Amino acid sequence: MPSLKALSLYLLSTVGGALAATTIPETDYDAIVIGGGPAGLSVTSGLSRVRRRTLMLDSGVYRNDPTRHMHDVIGNDGTVPAVFRYLARQQISRYNATTSMKNATVTSVESINNGSYYKATDSEGLEYTARRIVLGTGMKDILPDTPGVKEGWGTGIYWCPWCDGYEHRDQAFGILGGLSDVVGSVIEIWQLNQDIVAFVNGTNTPEQQKALANKYPNWEAQLEAYNVTLNNETIVSIDRLQDGSDNNDPAEDREFDLFRVNLADGTSIERGAFITNFPDAQYSDIAQNLHLNMTGTKIQVAANMKTNDTGIYAIGDANSDGATNVPHAMFSGKRAAVYIHVELGRQESLAAIGKRELSHRELEKEARRMIGNDLDDLWKRAREMK
Ligand SMILES: Cc1cc2nc3c(=O)[nH]c(=O)nc-3n(C[C@H](O)[C@H](O)[C@H](O)COP(=O)(O)OP(=O)(O)OC[C@H]3O[C@@H](n4cnc5c(N)ncnc54)[C@H](O)[C@@H]3O)c2cc1C
Ligand SMILES: *[C@@H]1O[C@H](CO)[C@@H](O)[C@H](O)[C@H]1NC(C)=O
Ligand SMILES: *[C@@H]1O[C@H](CO)[C@@H](O)[C@H](O)[C@H]1NC(C)=O
Ligand SMILES: *[C@@H]1O[C@H](CO)[C@@H](O)[C@H](O)[C@H]1NC(C)=O
Ligand SMILES: *[C@@H]1O[C@H](CO)[C@@H](O)[C@H](O)[C@H]1NC(C)=O
Ligand SMILES: *[C@@H]1O[C@H](CO)[C@@H](O)[C@H](O)[C@H]1NC(C)=O
Ligand SMILES: *[C@@H]1O[C@H](CO)[C@@H](O)[C@H](O)[C@H]1NC(C)=O
Ligand SMILES: *[C@@H]1O[C@H](CO)[C@@H](O)[C@H](O)[C@H]1NC(C)=O
Ligand SMILES: *[C@@H]1O[C@H](CO)[C@@H](O)[C@H](O)[C@H]1NC(C)=O
Repeated sequence: MPSLKALSLYLLSTVGGALAATTIPETDYDAIVIGGGPAGLSVTSGLSRVRRRTLMLDSGVYRNDPTRHMHDVIGNDGTVPAVFRYLARQQISRYNATTSMKNATVTSVESINNGSYYKATDSEGLEYTARRIVLGTGMKDILPDTPGVKEGWGTGIYWCPWCDGYEHRDQAFGILGGLSDVVGSVIEIWQLNQDIVAFVNGTNTPEQQKALANKYPNWEAQLEAYNVTLNNETIVSIDRLQDGSDNNDPAEDREFDLFRVNLADGTSIERGAFITNFPDAQYSDIAQNLHLNMTGTKIQVAANMKTNDTGIYAIGDANSDGATNVPHAMFSGKRAAVYIHVELGRQESLAAIGKRELSHRELEKEARRMIGNDLDDLWKRAREMK
């Protein structure tokens, strides 16, 4: 026998539910996309193609802007990042009947009536409302102040082997960053470079050795087997001796940068390129101000790219997928677009026939069913494999 209290709560909830017919909040847009990098452009394209009223707001600071060419994006291997974004904007602008793109910086996002809709405010104080918000706000790299690092960022001092490794293959190579990341980097670039010096800049300490040993118990033997020299001197500066922008062989995909690492003991070592292990952070503080659940520095999302605020999605580098590249940015944007369209469509279909409002949980379940599989479980398992 259910208790009287439980029974009356049950009646109240069903009766209450039956009375509350679904209403669609009046908003300026169906969705507001914050960020105009590959993630934001991708979700904007997906929403535009199904005529969702979409506003993309972009402050114009892109993570891969410093690099000469973008790589490993099929069909666009070697495209200049700004050209890639320009082409995307040109293509999306065909849908200008329902979609607009604006250069503006969003300063705050507010959830209205517990996620019934959202209000974004830009730096000029303009306000925009929408039923869904997508954060494609990216990450920023926290580069050390050592002279020469920022100057060489993306042009010889690079971030990932897929980004710029091939163009610097077989050159004298350096690793910048803490000792604990050295073996991971060696494993990543070994097919490309074998003459490797790891400039650990004073981080060859017992703590970092322990952290490295936790990941690679035989790290010392591994470094020896791979002919990696550990240099623990403090880096004073990195001078550029040659610029691969002017010294290159496009036919062979080679860029000839050359740097001199000046060390505190007065010695110096020349290298053609570097891979780096520097920390990163959310580019925007919107997620923090919304108190979204985080995983480390990333906005925590489920397989459908939803944060724990049910109307807010996070895509691209900013989210917790553990992937930071242009193909992932596009994939995650596309996935968010599909979910948003289906969820909003389901809500509209209920409103059309005056049915009661589905809870957010029910709506999500419906969308998942319509899309065709239980992505969350699959996604969770896939991520556990890493
Ligand atoms: C040097 C370098 C080279 C790289 N090269 C490659 C490569 O060759 N291939 C590859 O696949 N990946 C590469 N990457 C990784 C790639 O840059 C990222 O994975 C990709 O940019 C992620 O896209 P995104 O849209 O999530 O973020 P971003 O491209 O960083 O875009 C973020 C967007 O959000 C906007 N924004 C942030 N806050 C606000 C706000 N408050 N209001 C409005 N707009 C806001 C920014 O202005 C920007 O438009 C490279 C990275 C670096 C650092
Ligand atoms: C919208 O796109 C059409 C077709 O590309 C174009 O002719 C028109 O000028 C655009 N309108 C605006 C306001 O940009
Ligand atoms: C908006 O930003 C894009 C990309 O950075 C740029 O190409 C465009 O000219 C800007 N538009 C305006 C109106 O400033
Ligand atoms: C707000 O929404 C969440 C999730 O959609 C729900 O669990 C919660 O009960 C709601 N809170 C209120 C006060 O309605
Ligand atoms: C090297 O270490 C010094 C001292 O800790 C630090 O200030 C500097 O930013 C580091 N430089 C690099 C390239 O890691
Ligand atoms: C091993 O590293 C040293 C020091 O960087 C370098 O001089 C030598 O060429 C490397 N050997 C091979 C086989 O790459
Ligand atoms: C590396 O340099 C740091 C900072 O100068 C120092 O504390 C540490 O003992 C050095 N490590 C080794 C193995 O010499
Ligand atoms: C927030 O993150 C923590 C830690 O990862 C997790 O335990 C918790 O369930 C998350 N909350 C939500 C609402 O996702
Ligand atoms: C999301 O999770 C964070 C951390 O657990 C919590 O503070 C916040 O209230 C949650 N937001 C929503 C909308 O549930």
